[in-house]
This record gives sequence, structure tokens and C-alpha cells, in this order.
Amino acid sequence: MKLEELGRLKLCTLPTPLMEAPQISAKLGGPRILIKRDDLTGLAMGGNKSRPLEFLMAESKKNGDDIVVTAGYQQSNWVCNIIAAARKLGMDVILFLLKGSGRFQGNLLLYKLLGADLRFTDMEVRDLPALYKQMDSLAAELRRQGRRPHVIYYESFGPVGIASYVMLVSEICQQLQEKGLTAQYLFHTSGSGCTQAGLLVGARYFKAPFEVVGVMPNHRYTREQRVRMVADLASATSQFLDMNFSFSPEEVKYYDEYAGESYSAPTKKGIEAIKLVASTEGIFLDPIYSSKSMACLIDQIRDGRFKPQDTVIYYHSGGLPQLFFYNEELTA
Ligand SMILES: Cc1ncc(COP(=O)(O)O)c(C=O)c1O
Repeated sequence: MKLEELGRLKLCTLPTPLMEAPQISAKLGGPRILIKRDDLTGLAMGGNKSRPLEFLMAESKKNGDDIVVTAGYQQSNWVCNIIAAARKLGMDVILFLLKGSGRFQGNLLLYKLLGADLRFTDMEVRDLPALYKQMDSLAAELRRQGRRPHVIYYESFGPVGIASYVMLVSEICQQLQEKGLTAQYLFHTSGSGCTQAGLLVGARYFKAPFEVVGVMPNHRYTREQRVRMVADLASATSQFLDMNFSFSPEEVKYYDEYAGESYSAPTKKGIEAIKLVASTEGIFLDPIYSSKSMACLIDQIRDGRFKPQDTVIYYHSGGLPQLFFYNEELTA
């Protein structure tokens, strides 16, 4: 299917700004930095996960779905965006929650305010297959009651959603052109690999001037697994979009030195990055994702890896609700 043939709904406020960050550059003595503000996508509290929902929910609406059944962590930016998108489209949401603190702060607070039907479980990630069976039988029951459920398993969106990040490259290239600028690098946080996969396909398709650089946020998978995941997702997406590119793990630029200890843990360097960006540009990063790629970029600048005439795009992927969940770590 061609990119322009994909169904799409308008859920976000696009394009998000591509902003100069002169104070960070001045403070670090670095290259020109442009921040792509996807913390301002306009759905819920923003973030990179708003974009794929424009495509995924278009399919759902076409099918006449009226209720979303999904599952996830208590502090998932993805789940928060799913609920917000569904509610904006007039759909109900039943959400199965993996074991967590149960504290109504950060994303869990937002799930509640968005009006999702929250079902707390004692399950962990390893129990997801059993949870999926539970979701499937609930969906079957809902169908018997005449409802049209859309089941969204945790962290699972394929080429249709990833296409949104291919389009993101076109958006950035257009903004660069309007500003009369070019850029050599784009730094971002790469977890499931969906964003990076779409950016790689988009960079090749739209002949973007910049290299896409991913930074690992957590140790859920090894570096080898991640670069393989990104390359496979990028190849599958380009095939789906009739582009027929293929990507190898060696082509995926990826830093793994900035990840937190556990699945979701802030890091010392990440917290420093949050404070530096807030105190220079008045912009907030989050403690679990965006702060880690910024920490990597800051180290690269301090290590003198860029030429003064270089321009680096920092892709701010959002995640702001978690700032409030980690208030203690951030003020310790
Ligand atoms: C705020 C934020 N940034 C970055 C990422 C990583 O994006 P991806 O999973 O597409 O690699 C996530 C994933 O949940 C996220 O919530």
C-alpha cells in the first residue's frame, strides 16, 4: 500500500514545532540544536505515541468499533494515548493493568480522568499471554452483547502505526526547508524500535539530510536484540508501503549506555539532562525516555563529537506525565 493511501484521522495538532534551542548550545558550547516538539502533539499530554493512533484508529473507526479493550503498565504513555484517542472518538475503554504501585499519579491518574474502566491485576509482563486470553474472552463476550470491540495488545503496532513516523520525517524535512536549514543528526529515544524504524524508512524515502540516532531507555532487551528489532520493523514497514528497502542491524545507529537499571528507572545523567533543558530552554523532558537520549546528546557534545557548524535535531518524544510520578527521585 502507498503511504498516501493509508487511512488517517486527525487526532494531533501537526506539525509540532521545530524549535531552536540556543541556550543549550551556548551552555555546552555545542552545535546548533533544534528540538522537534512532539511533547506538543496535542492529544492527552502529547508524545510520540499520539502519531500512530491517527492511523490505527482510522482502521478501527472504519470497522465501526465502539469500545477498546487494552492492557499495559500503570505508567504507560502509549496506553494513555490510546485511551485519549478512543475517548476523543466517542469510544469506551476497558484497561487491564499490570501489577504496579496503584498510586494515582502520572499516567495512572490520567487513565482515571480520561474515564477508562480500570481493571487492576497482579500480572506481570511474563503473564501477558494469559492476559491476552482474558482480553480475547472479554471481547467475545462484548460481541455477544452487540458491542464492536477493538482489542489492542500491549506495545503491538506494526507497519500501519509505524507509517506515522515515516510521515514525521517528511514533516521535519519540510520544516528544515522552510527555515533554510539542513541537519546532520537526529537523536531520539528508541524503545520498542517503532519510532526509529519509521524514521529510518522516512529518512531513506524522503532523502533526509540527517542520520537517525537511537538511544536505549531501559534494559528490557539487549543492544543486539534492539538493533535487530529496529531493522526488521523498518524492512517490514518499507515492504508494506511498497518501498522495498531493506535494513540490516549494522545500519542502525544505537547507543545503549544511557539506559536505566530496571524497566523504568530514571538515571543520574537523565535527571541532569532534565534540569539542564528546563533551566535553559524552559522545556521539560521526562525521566524514563526523553531524558536519556538528551543525556547521550549532551555527552556527545561535551566529548566534542560535533563540528561547530553542525545542526542536530533532538526529537522530544514526550512522556511528561511520568515527571510527576518520579517526583521523589527528581528532587532527591
Ligand atoms: C515518551 C516516550 N519516548 C520514547 C519512547 C520509545 O518509542 P518506541 O517504543 O517507538 O521506540 C516511548 C515508548 O513508550 C515513550 O513513551
